[in-house]
Amino acid sequence: MATNRTFTMIKPDATGAGYTGKIIDRIIDAGFSIKAMKWTQLSIDDARAFYAVHAERPFFGDLTEYMSSGPIVAAILEKDNAVVDFRELIGATNPADAAPGTIRADFAESISANAVHGSDSDENAAIEGAFYFSARELA
Ligand code: RTP
Ligand code: MG
Repeated sequence: MATNRTFTMIKPDATGAGYTGKIIDRIIDAGFSIKAMKWTQLSIDDARAFYAVHAERPFFGDLTEYMSSGPIVAAILEKDNAVVDFRELIGATNPADAAPGTIRADFAESISANAVHGSDSDENAAIEGAFYFSARELA
């Protein structure tokens, strides 16, 4: 059964461009509530650990360098059908392919600097949330 949580990061391109508030507004307007949120920055080792699932992909080096290049906002979001609905709200990985009105269509620069992350499964949402937040913050 689908759980009601997903995990997101607002990525360095979007925090750096001053889009953080606008993106949070989009998320709330779409019916998500914020269970936990923090502004932080990943070290290169943090980024390698977070994206370990992509370690064999050709873009792993660029991705981890990029994700540790500036501040990010990490958050746990709640809504019915959260994982699927949030992927729909953010749009396709490459903003050139993202549907009009999605967060990536409106705020992303490129396939690498694509404004936001959204978990791709309930299992990964739980793993990714636990990377950033304590059991007390997740309770
Ligand atoms: P995310 O995990 O950030 O929500 O993105 P996603 O599921 O749409 O895409 P995924 O396949 O999980 O890739 C993770 C992130 O790696 C970067 N990427 N670059 N240059 C490339 O071909 C390429 N492909 C992926 C993107 O920043 C993507 O969000
Ligand atoms: Mg992904």
